Amino acid sequence: MIRNVFIVLIICCLGPVSGSPPPTYDSIFSFGDSLADTGNLLLSGALTFPFIAKLPYGQTFFHYPTGRCSDGRLVVDFIAEAYGLPYLPPYLAVAKGEKFEHGVNFAVAGATALDAKFFYDRKIGSQLLLTNGSLSVQLAWFSNLKSTLICPTKQDCARRFQKSLFLVGEIGGNDYNYPFFGGGTIQQLKALVPLVVETIANATSGNLPIGCNAVYLTLFRTPNKAAYDRNGCLKAYNGFSKYHNSMLKLALENLRHKYPHANIIYADYYAAAKRFFHAPHHYGFTNGALVACCGGGGPYNFNNSAICGSPGSKSCLDPATYANWDGIHLTEAAYRYIAMGLLNGSFTEPPLTFPHIKPF
Ligand SMILES: *[C@@H]1O[C@H](CO)[C@@H](O)[C@H](O)[C@H]1NC(C)=O
Ligand SMILES: *[C@@H]1O[C@H](CO)[C@@H](O)[C@H](O)[C@H]1NC(C)=O
Ligand SMILES: *[C@@H]1O[C@H](CO)[C@@H](O)[C@H](O)[C@H]1NC(C)=O
Ligand SMILES: *[C@@H]1O[C@H](CO)[C@@H](O)[C@H](O)[C@H]1NC(C)=O
Repeated sequence: MIRNVFIVLIICCLGPVSGSPPPTYDSIFSFGDSLADTGNLLLSGALTFPFIAKLPYGQTFFHYPTGRCSDGRLVVDFIAEAYGLPYLPPYLAVAKGEKFEHGVNFAVAGATALDAKFFYDRKIGSQLLLTNGSLSVQLAWFSNLKSTLICPTKQDCARRFQKSLFLVGEIGGNDYNYPFFGGGTIQQLKALVPLVVETIANATSGNLPIGCNAVYLTLFRTPNKAAYDRNGCLKAYNGFSKYHNSMLKLALENLRHKYPHANIIYADYYAAAKRFFHAPHHYGFTNGALVACCGGGGPYNFNNSAICGSPGSKSCLDPATYANWDGIHLTEAAYRYIAMGLLNGSFTEPPLTFPHIKPF
């Protein structure tokens, strides 16, 4: 069972404060879940989600499974490309000796913002948890690498982090996915939002429109037409994402006051993705934005008994004509549009500036 993740986002970067010329980052450090994982869950064995170890994962770009939960590149890969940096190695490869010069990716597919223990203690969705690599675990990995390989002294760190972009998120999507898929209601889950937001904001991090996601559309399908918006998405679940994001923005406002020298940027994944749910054809998603490319049938091509990569599932021929990859995650083409929207400043507040973005 999958159940991972989605959503949220935020980007935070420590760096020159506004007023100075656009920063040229020479490192990126990334934290998050399957929207950003470039191989950590796979390297940890991926026992809970073995499908990512095989094609069709990776079919479009890398042509082999890298551990990314998509057919190709993720938002973090497009951001690295835009800054002229290599794709980030997963932390677990670095821990085994892989060299890194321009940053490390600590994100783990399935990760929650809150510690796994929170879900186990309360038995809310814990049977679905894919990993214990929560945000605090990722931060501990970072901390460990910081004092050994990244910058052993304070001065090194100051110099290094001036030119580093920290991407925190998306994270927090799974904190809701597990309990929702385990039977929790929107009302019950709203009670979790303040704690999740505080945890993310403490590390810093927005949330995709979950009501447009094939897994939500399948699990919470209803004959009640009024439950859907004009794009065919579930209104109440999108409302939940918006609630999370608005709380997060408030929390980031507080962080900016607390850390005036950090340049904290909110990345609005929700609005960046909303564009293609609203007008899929405009983005080349001729098969619509709601139906998954890879899956085992059903109205949204999401079948919990035949998820992408398992027997009974199959992948579409042209993933670029779909926004949804496997029912849960998006395609490379969708991630590219989101990345473009973040990088060109349309969906980042304050706008993310970049020195030499390559044309997509
Ligand atoms: C997470 O930790 C709990 C308790 O230590 C353990 O029972 C569980 O198997 C772990 N889950 C995963 C996915 O590693
Ligand atoms: C966030 O950080 C504050 C200050 O360090 C701390 O008191 C609080 O417990 C933290 N909250 C969470 C949810 O980690
Ligand atoms: C879902 O997958 C199962 C197992 O392959 C299959 O028996 C079932 O017919 C599929 N359901 C749909 C709606 O395609
Ligand atoms: C950013 O890209 C989007 C398309 O992805 C476009 O609609 C928008 O006008 C661009 N904004 C800027 C400031 O270039």
